[in-house]
Amino acid sequence: MNKAFAIAAIVLTAAVVTVIGFGGAARGAVREKSGSAQVERGAYLVTIMGCNDCHTPWKMGAAGPEPDMTRMLSGHPEQVGPLAAVTAPEGWTWSATPTNTAFSGPWGVSYTANLTPDRNTGLGIWTEDMFISAIRTGRHMGVSRPINPPMPWPMYRKATDDDLKAVFAYLRTIPPVTNHVPDYQPPAAVTTDAR
Ligand code: HEC
Repeated sequence: MNKAFAIAAIVLTAAVVTVIGFGGAARGAVREKSGSAQVERGAYLVTIMGCNDCHTPWKMGAAGPEPDMTRMLSGHPEQVGPLAAVTAPEGWTWSATPTNTAFSGPWGVSYTANLTPDRNTGLGIWTEDMFISAIRTGRHMGVSRPINPPMPWPMYRKATDDDLKAVFAYLRTIPPVTNHVPDYQPPAAVTTDAR
């Protein structure tokens, strides 16, 4: 073999290996950030943190009420819509709908949010920062009104950044459901500002 040709072949091989090597590393880095390990962790966390208890509407099953997973994490159903506040009976604090997605208590009436990636009615336009900030500060979208009970953000705020990022990454991957959740209603006494 011609010596110059042999050297050229070695250089070319090195270049190809370098390019494939870098390409592989770059793809690996992307995978690590938004890939299955993080999403799987998020799926696990969403399951054990009980998000489905309130954010997936309940239906009546053979053994009693259970989350309707065909509407997974889509929040208070728009078909049920906004509801009038009710006063809990003596000795009780709050009332919930059969879907376990709307709650009437001293804080007013709260409706669980649509956590699916639907652009207009879910978390579609939310950024990871907004999500983490909402959970950590207990403020709607991370900046405005307080997030009301029974959303357990005072407990969830203790989660690590990695865990909250994993939860958000997983929520990005679930099927989007178009479901417009009614706005939170403050207690009548608080909204009345007539002087
Ligand atoms: C015990 C019931 C309950 C559980 C469990 C629950 N939530 Fe909520 N969540 C609510 C209610 C009620 C609201 C609406 C509160 C309001 O509008 O003031 C809400 C609102 C939210 C919001 C919207 C916050 C905002 O900016 O308006 C997000 C995001 C959210 N929940 C995420 C989660 C995640 C993720 C989990 C599981 C890790 C979870 N929730 C578990 C009841 C619950």
